[in-house]
Amino acid sequence: MGTGSDERPIGLFDSGVGGLTVLSEVRRRLPAEATVYLGDGARTPYGPRPADDVRRFTLECADWLLAQDVKLLILACNTATSQALPQVRDRSPVPVLGVVRPGAVSAAASTRAGHVGVIATAGTVASGAYPAAIGEADARLIVTQQACPELVPLVEAGEMSGPRAEGLLHGYLGELLAADPDIDTLLLGCTHYPLLRPLIEAEVGPGVAVVDSAFTAALAAEDLLEALRARSSSGSSRHRVATTGPVEAFSAVAGRVFGAELPAVERAAVEGV
Ligand code: DGL
Repeated sequence: MGTGSDERPIGLFDSGVGGLTVLSEVRRRLPAEATVYLGDGARTPYGPRPADDVRRFTLECADWLLAQDVKLLILACNTATSQALPQVRDRSPVPVLGVVRPGAVSAAASTRAGHVGVIATAGTVASGAYPAAIGEADARLIVTQQACPELVPLVEAGEMSGPRAEGLLHGYLGELLAADPDIDTLLLGCTHYPLLRPLIEAEVGPGVAVVDSAFTAALAAEDLLEALRARSSSGSSRHRVATTGPVEAFSAVAGRVFGAELPAVERAAVEGV
């Protein structure tokens, strides 16, 4: 590093298709950069798994991405970030960014009332990572969390609209807003949830701002590469997307959301899967 440019790709990881919402923002913000994305489709969802399993799976997937010679690793998964970020950083020779701090910053910047709601997987909620990170951003904020265990499997199945999705969101968000009716900012603390954004916004109404970590994570990546003088200068960006699970299932869901932006999906042979 220090030569002024670095043509190696940025690596992004998620348990499944959710991190593509972060990839999309990274590509928009950093169009000259090459990327390689890995979804652990064979083992999704991570949310209900014990923290030890999430840590092991995340490290195995990080090793695969590091073997692709990435210059920066983004854990585009809140569950992995909240349970494995320090361990991945210990292991990685390149910088590692998570999505929890970017999400917390988005929420803290958005709220006027000082009441933030967070929806996330059971694992992320249990880790306490969001209340801690939002508290670090502004200790006066009141944070209420709601675990939404059914949403990731729903998105992975490609069910991003319809009565089942609406019914589940009605239940989860109703419970959250009953716990704190003064919430004016809802943080999507799982990278799958932006794929349900229209339904979520309809459910909470115009009085609640819905924010996520994609924009702030892409901004953090840009700042970091800039500071390291490690941005790409060739502009010949190349994009790879891989999954540990069935390629067809992953492509079907991801392709519906990302269309022509999505390259042909590869099957990744990750150690341990
Ligand atoms: N996109 C992941 C997250 O942000 C979902 C984790 C899961 O597989 O449950 O937490």
